[in-house]
Amino acid sequence: MSRIETRAVHSGMGGVTESGSHVPVIDLSTTNPLTGVESGGESYENLATGGELQPGDSPVYQRLWQPGVARFEDALSSLEGSEGTVAFASGMASLSAVLLATVTAGKAHAVALRPLYGGTDHVLATGLLGTTVTWTDVAGITAAIRPDTGLVILESPANPTLELTDIRSVVAAAGSVPVLVDNTFATPVLQRPLEHGATLVLHSATKYLGGHGDAMGGTVSGPTEWMVRLRQVRALTGGLLHPLSAYLLQRGLRTLPVRVRAQQTTAAEIATRLEGHPALTRVLYPGLPGQDPQHLIGRQTAGAGSLIALDFVGGFDAGVRFTEACSLITHTVSLGGVDSLVQHPASLTHRPVEASARPSAGIVRLSIGLEHVEDLMADILVALEAAQAAPAADAVVLSA
Ligand SMILES: Cc1ncc(COP(=O)(O)O)c(C=O)c1O
Repeated sequence: MSRIETRAVHSGMGGVTESGSHVPVIDLSTTNPLTGVESGGESYENLATGGELQPGDSPVYQRLWQPGVARFEDALSSLEGSEGTVAFASGMASLSAVLLATVTAGKAHAVALRPLYGGTDHVLATGLLGTTVTWTDVAGITAAIRPDTGLVILESPANPTLELTDIRSVVAAAGSVPVLVDNTFATPVLQRPLEHGATLVLHSATKYLGGHGDAMGGTVSGPTEWMVRLRQVRALTGGLLHPLSAYLLQRGLRTLPVRVRAQQTTAAEIATRLEGHPALTRVLYPGLPGQDPQHLIGRQTAGAGSLIALDFVGGFDAGVRFTEACSLITHTVSLGGVDSLVQHPASLTHRPVEASARPSAGIVRLSIGLEHVEDLMADILVALEAAQAAPAADAVVLSA
């Protein structure tokens, strides 16, 4: 099998050259001509129950099958090393589909390791989709598993503290219960959870896979039996990836290895330079000395990635001053794109998380992009000065 850089460029391109094109055609058809009443009906039944498009069959209707989405799915399967991938409208639509599939299989209980992305935490904590959850750590997984447990859910690196979790230990503790790893932060370039025994890999494709902040999407990769169930959920609930987004996400995959490595190099440099800065209690980055006690870098993941969390001496107020003083780095939710972003998780992405499990209010998360390291450092140093500045006089009066 060719290497990941080559697969990133060439996977999912079957039939393109033969059709006389250099890149895939974006087909926006919502419906497709049928080959006959009987054959059309058979295709419909096959696709609506999670089957794959058969040669010569009509895709029938965009909610059932979309050729550009299927190309993107094939390309990602090749990178994650999975039997298949099912793509959805967003990362949250992907997670919802997995949870619905477990609920309908009579396995409505999930075991989950915090921290997780705030939206994931929120949907599990509220039980919105009919699931219940037990929050635990690796040591507590076996005891938390019940006869109706359908999933063990984790992120590594985790959002937003960037802690690494040993996937093999989780898989061993989970026994026969499928383990779902949210691989959004690592990407298949750095980490392929299926190689470590996980059953399912989830992405917010909105982040690194697309990489340019212009396409929403989500994916689940794993064994064929799961893919059939997930395609059925998608066909019947309609959380579809749009063909234009599928095109952009597949194009993003072609540069993924180059982007991930370049962004990681810059992030590692910035994290190293910021360590020990007087405005910060901690720089959270798994590539810094002492922050990967289980030595997972090199064994489970090829690198620490390009997210950095800064914990401020001045807590919430200092974190807010830093965030608002960044200028080259955009203050916005999301991550993983070519441009650097900053956000304050406790008041934004992790706001819905119950207070006892919410990240420290002094933590600010940086997603490092492709800008020059010196330009990013200049912006960060100015913002760190602002973070250290005494609060404005009116702020003192207000809080007095
Ligand atoms: C780790 C992680 N998983 C899942 C999601 C949800 O993805 P989406 O926003 O595409 O629905 C996010 C979004 O920030 C995320 O950071």
